[in-house]
Amino acid sequence: MSVKIIVGAQWGDEGKGKIVDLLSEQVDIVARYQGGANAGHTIVIDGEQYILHLVPSGILHENTICVIGNGVVIDPLALLEEIEFLKSKGISVDGRLWISHRAHLIMPYHKLLDQAKESKDADRKIGTTGRGIGPAYVDKVNRMGIRIVDLLDRDTLEEKLRTNIKEKNEILKKIYKEKEIDVDQIINEYLDFDKKIDPYIKDVSTFLNESLKDGKQILLEGAQGTLLDIDFGTYPYVTSSNPTSGGACAGVGIGPTKIESVLGVIKAYTTRVGMGPFPTEIGDEEDFDLRDLGGEYGATTGRPRRCGWFDAVIAKFAVQVNGLDSFALTKLDVLDTLEEVKVCVAYKYKGKTITTFPSEMRILENCEPVYESFPGWQKPTSGIRSYQDLPANAKAYLDAIKNLTQTDFSIISVGSGREQTILIG
Ligand code: IMP
Repeated sequence: MSVKIIVGAQWGDEGKGKIVDLLSEQVDIVARYQGGANAGHTIVIDGEQYILHLVPSGILHENTICVIGNGVVIDPLALLEEIEFLKSKGISVDGRLWISHRAHLIMPYHKLLDQAKESKDADRKIGTTGRGIGPAYVDKVNRMGIRIVDLLDRDTLEEKLRTNIKEKNEILKKIYKEKEIDVDQIINEYLDFDKKIDPYIKDVSTFLNESLKDGKQILLEGAQGTLLDIDFGTYPYVTSSNPTSGGACAGVGIGPTKIESVLGVIKAYTTRVGMGPFPTEIGDEEDFDLRDLGGEYGATTGRPRRCGWFDAVIAKFAVQVNGLDSFALTKLDVLDTLEEVKVCVAYKYKGKTITTFPSEMRILENCEPVYESFPGWQKPTSGIRSYQDLPANAKAYLDAIKNLTQTDFSIISVGSGREQTILIG
């Protein structure tokens, strides 16, 4: 029995795609447990770039089966586009991709509501990806969502959709002054989707539990990251699901007694997209641009990511709320040319030093980072394959992070290619 969970330890975009791709080689099944097409996982194989939003990046290994769990919200258009994209690259998904019949669907009105709220309610803008994620989870929790299983019964689907669309049209028209939605068009589109998606539908929980009995190895993959978690993130500037490891069991239907370990993916510095507090954000005044060094532009929306120094306060928090066993640290090579690198070891708020992550946004927005500074290594690391061979200054930087978080590294990534990886232990 072996189930490993992999989570983002910052605000998403930590480079989980590459790490999942690497670990997929050692497992039989990779399952996504939350989020939707708001995620963007970039993987580079033999110089070719693949960006996946819904299908786990394990699909790029021909012997790995990929699963989309009940905790994911599925945009049919995005899913079909991704399946077609994979086929065009010669990657077959037939018999290798399973989707939970309990997963909820993202409907066109979810996307419209997401975008309308963001553009018309400027004071409370979150900076979402506009993919309808929040409104789809709202309907799920409000017990009015449409699940994949509903597609099987035309009458039920039609009845649910008519009720939902009546309500959404009121909101769109009266609150957001938007056009109404045509219910019949949506019913026909989704019945058509049912025909295309039918071969991929499974009782995922039963499949995964049976696979465990057969001795299969499973990787549960979270999207986004710890600080975007609806419970533990920088609320309200978060996504609408639980990317933290606790969300994994509920998102696929495996019990917590089956989990063997939890790996946190963490970048050698920090980034975030969208609004919300970010204590170590560098801003424009610095004389170098981490964004360009790291190619920090969103894989889903293309938005420039906000960049900052490594924040050990949030890293420690991620260890705590996820129960991390080890870190996979990514993009160390991005810091190669810097003269100096910094780690935030605490925050200062109204003269007091804080070393635990505050839950109050008012505090987080107004705290000053306390930095420890390290000399840069100013040597290329992309060609290095063993920890011992890293420059002494890079090891000192990594040691500081390890000591502050009390967590070991099991993987260090020094480039986007599969081979640009240092495995430890
Ligand atoms: P939503 O998930 O589209 O509702 O967006 C909510 C917040 O999560 C926004 O700040 C987004 O920028 C952020 N977000 C959502 N998905 C990702 C991701 O995959 N990486 C980084 N940030 C994300």
